[in-house]
This record gives sequence, structure tokens and C-alpha cells, in this order.
Amino acid sequence: MSDKLEVGFAPGLEGVVATRTRLSSVDGTAGRLVIAGFPVEELASRASFEETLYLLWNDALPDGEQLSALRRDLAARRALPKVTTDVLAAAAAEQVPPMDALRMASGTHGLKNGDDRDDALWLVAALPTIVAAYWRLSQGREPVEPDPELAHAANYLYMLSGEATSLEQARALETYLNTVVDHGMNASTFAARVIVSTRSDIVSAVVGAIGALKGPLHGGAPGPALDVVFEIGEAERAEKYLRAKLDRGERLMGFGHRVYKVRDPRADVLGAAAERLYATDADRALYELAREVEETALSLLEEYKPGRNLQTNVEFYTALLLHGLGLPTELFTPTFAVGRVGGWTAHCFEQQALDRLIRPQSEYTGSKNRSWVPLEEW
Ligand code: COA
Repeated sequence: MSDKLEVGFAPGLEGVVATRTRLSSVDGTAGRLVIAGFPVEELASRASFEETLYLLWNDALPDGEQLSALRRDLAARRALPKVTTDVLAAAAAEQVPPMDALRMASGTHGLKNGDDRDDALWLVAALPTIVAAYWRLSQGREPVEPDPELAHAANYLYMLSGEATSLEQARALETYLNTVVDHGMNASTFAARVIVSTRSDIVSAVVGAIGALKGPLHGGAPGPALDVVFEIGEAERAEKYLRAKLDRGERLMGFGHRVYKVRDPRADVLGAAAERLYATDADRALYELAREVEETALSLLEEYKPGRNLQTNVEFYTALLLHGLGLPTELFTPTFAVGRVGGWTAHCFEQQALDRLIRPQSEYTGSKNRSWVPLEEW
């Protein structure tokens, strides 16, 4: 195949429409995210994660029977095979970061029967078990066996803490998982589609997607957004602290977005979920402090970067919500993967149906017309 350019070079593929999808639509100018036809505001806080997954995979919500069948199928695949727990134990002995452990362990699935739906079910079901088991192993604690009676989100929280989970906590996590399940042609989703477009398998695609999500430009910012709130500590200190950062030319974590030039709709969904969660929790003061920090940050960003319209992004309230659920910052990005795997697998199915190899071109900028001189003639 020739690499003669047919379209101009677009760094980062910005503005390039690489595929068509029915899974989600991101309108950065209007601040709208639609997931399989539903505004994220409507879907995220109402649907169970299993319903959202069914919706993405089948382009329709499940009836009662279909939902129970999906729940059973997932619950049956939660327990990890020995090869996976062995990898996790070895990773824990080396204290590798949780995203690396997740990448290693999710690749252990053996593709026994080459059944794509089975592989996708395993990935969605097993990712939470891998993250929870690894976290406990890396702390020198025994993993908690999954409980097949619990729904997907509640079971994840249970495997992390080993304790019963309240309805509010399970609902808050489901809202988060639904909110991040899919987001247009983001880097990890694109990576998954590229891999599966070669007619490779879905496990390989998800392992590649986890690698892409690990990068700080994609899935790695919620920790620092919360650190700022903790460092500020008291609302009265917010302005001085944030001003000093901006004066030093630093960016405020949790604000601004490449695509959304108005408020990220996911920030509102997660902000409302955080408000509900913290209403029943002792750490209400942290929620109030975060709101004050947000307000101060927004007015300072307008002052320092007028006209840029820098708004709160998804990471700010992700951090607050996941912290409120007792998750350590190290598990924020792996938990993002636990939600996004629903979108990755759905995109893999969509790409398989399209069955078109993704193979863009490159513009050659290297030397031209070199001629080979044997070493002895130099
Ligand atoms: N704090 C302070 N200034 C910010 C800012 C932030 N969070 N985000 C953008 N800006 C400023 C830039 O410094 C730039 O100013 P300048 O033109 O005077 O140099 C201007 O706003 C435009 O920035 P630009 O780099 O073009 O925006 P972008 O679309 O490339 O950046 C992000 C998007 C997300 C990378 C950026 O907003 C950022 O770094 N945010 C903080 C990290 C974060 O929260 N990431 C999670 C994203 S979901």
C-alpha cells in the first residue's frame, strides 16, 4: 500500500472523524453528552450499571428477564482463575502501580472458546475483582471473594472493603460508572477499536485500552484535583492558595477541557451524586469545602484567563465522589477502567460489525536520497 497522502496532516487527529458510532455523542460547545440516545443526566443516576451495559451492547434497554440473565452471566464470571490471582500476587510482591497490575491481570484471560461475548462478559465482570483483589493484596490483606447475590457496583465496593455497602453508596458508584462508561472517540476507545479492527480479539483490545487510559493526559488527573482541596484545608485559605498557583503559571487540576468549552455535563451529574452521598456521610465538611474551592477557582480562572471559559471538569467531582466512597486515590483511574470497559467492549462489537481495518497514513519527514556506503569505505 502506498503512503501517498490523500488528506492533510492533522496532529493528534483533531477534527478527524474516524468512525461512526451509535454509542455516545459528545457536543463540547453545547456541553451535552448523550449515551445511546439518553442525556447522561437522565441515564446515569437512574440506570443500574448492568442496564447501561445492556443498552450499549444491544442498543435497547433490557426487560426484566434480559436484565436478570445479564446479571447472572456477569456474577458467574467474577471469581478470578488461579492464573490471574498468581499474576496479582506477583505484582503485589513488586508493589507495581494498580493500573499496571490491572493491565497484566486482564490479559490472563485465555480466549478458550473464541467467543467474543463471553470474553467481553469476563472483562466487565472480572475487572472489578482484579482491582479490588490487587488493592487488598498490595496492602498485605486477603482478597474478598465476590458475592454473586450483589449487583455489579455493590459487589465492587464489598470486595474492596469486605463490609456491607449502603444503598446510597452503591447508587453513587453506579452513577459514576454510568457517567464515564463512554465518551466519544477518546484515546483508549480508539486504541481498542484499532486493535479489534485487525480482527484481533476483545481481550487484547481491552488490555491496549487500559494502557492508553493509564496515561495522565487521559485517565490520570482525579487524584491531584482532590489533593488541592486537602492542601487548602479551610475555605478561607482557598483564594490565597489558588492565586499563588496561578501566579506561578500552574494549572488548576479539575478545571478546563479539550472538548468541552462550557461546563462538562458529567461534572454536574457527579456533583449532584456527591451531594447526595455526602448528605448521609459524616464528612459533609469536605463536600462544603470542595464547593467553596470550586467557586473560588472558577472566579479566579475567569480573572486570570478571561474569555477562556475554563469550567469544572469531570475529574473534580470524580475525586470527591470516589473519596466519599472510601476509595484511595490510587484506585481512581482503575475504577474509571471498571466503568469504561462497558464502552470499550461495546465499541469492539461495533468495530467488528464494521469490519474495516483502521490504517491511517503518515507524512514522511525523514532524509531522502541517501546511498549506502559500506562501513569499510567510510
Ligand atoms: N488552570 C489554569 N489555566 C488553564 C487551565 C487550568 N486548569 N486549563 C487551561 N488553562 C489555560 C492555559 O494555560 C491557556 O492559557 P494561555 O492561552 O494564556 O496560555 C488557556 O487556558 C487554554 O489552554 P489550552 O492548553 O489551550 O487548553 P487545552 O484545551 O489544551 O487543555 C486541559 C485542556 C484539560 C489539558 C487543561 O484545561 C488542563 O491542563 N486542565 C488541568 C488538568 C485537568 O483537570 N485534566 C483533566 C481533564 S478531564
